[in-house]
Amino acid sequence: MRTVELSRENVRLIDQRRLPNELVVMACRDYHEVGEAIKTLAVRGAPAIGVAAAGGLALAAQALKDRSEPEFRAGLESAAAELRATRPTAVNLFWAIQKVMDFAATQQGRPPEDAADALYHFAVGMAEADVATNKRMAEFGQALVADGAGILTHCNTGSLATVDYGTALGVIRMAHEHGKQIHVYVDETRPVLQGSRLTAWECVHFGIPATLITDNMAAHMMRLGNIQICFVGADRIATNGDTANKIGTYGVAVLAKEHGIPFYVVAPTSTVDLAIASGDEIEIEERNHEEVTHIGGVRIAPEGIGVANPAFDVTPAKYITGIITEAGIAYPPFPVNLKRLLQGGNQNVGP
Ligand code: MRU
Repeated sequence: MRTVELSRENVRLIDQRRLPNELVVMACRDYHEVGEAIKTLAVRGAPAIGVAAAGGLALAAQALKDRSEPEFRAGLESAAAELRATRPTAVNLFWAIQKVMDFAATQQGRPPEDAADALYHFAVGMAEADVATNKRMAEFGQALVADGAGILTHCNTGSLATVDYGTALGVIRMAHEHGKQIHVYVDETRPVLQGSRLTAWECVHFGIPATLITDNMAAHMMRLGNIQICFVGADRIATNGDTANKIGTYGVAVLAKEHGIPFYVVAPTSTVDLAIASGDEIEIEERNHEEVTHIGGVRIAPEGIGVANPAFDVTPAKYITGIITEAGIAYPPFPVNLKRLLQGGNQNVGP
């Protein structure tokens, strides 16, 4: 199945908190449950939470379809506000909600029942578009992968982080499907372990040769010559190319630069936030400290210790070789070339 599946009755999600030990599908029956699933990381990954939120809004519309038009609109607005408040960093969430709300505005004057139906189809279309976008990015990205390459990736950017196929892991998957002999080094990605729990699970599932490493082994693997290229995803990309992604990404980028290894970000254009000039303007989510002090419910740090748990960091643009989108690959200078890509310019703009 897909990671996110929409229907008029529910939003079905692979519950990522249970992987890799159990593959369980959960059904969210209203937008409150979708919001809770996003907050608790049952569904996670920038594109996946965007589509899940769109599905949540479609559920809200279904629940409001017998109300008056003003009540329908007010109800949708309040659902959108609740869903926006779930997680702050990934712009795809806000982008997807805005897209649905803009579409809802075009339905003004129609009976709520018809508008709700149209909204449901719109959200389903967004889910489909996500898969097509990922495959386009994967085609662009896989062309950069040499036969025999060792590839480092961080966090989970695969099918589980999207509706299907993935962003950075989608590139890796397509290189594998094209018959390239690749080997993936999977950062475990402390503290929530999206690498060891989810990316490793996808690699095993798809038969992609891979080795799991702890985050602090990346430098060593690079020095040994095991890594020829890095692919990571993104939660928000500023106009200047600064990229927020899972905590630890910045360190990988600095290491890659030091070792002369190309470092690529793979993300749909919906992850680019032209409303902000640089990464300094990106809000970094601070999550529950138990994610750091506990593993699998077992305490691994003493009571009373101070803890920080930023879920994301910002990689300055100067460490990024290129940004792979469904519209093509942007190379530095990003302020010019990202804009060009978004405005429908050439594929592969720059260097
Ligand atoms: O906290 P998460 O698991 O939602 O963080 C996910 C990431 O940082 C991914 O790398 C990013 O969303 C890109 S996913 C295609």
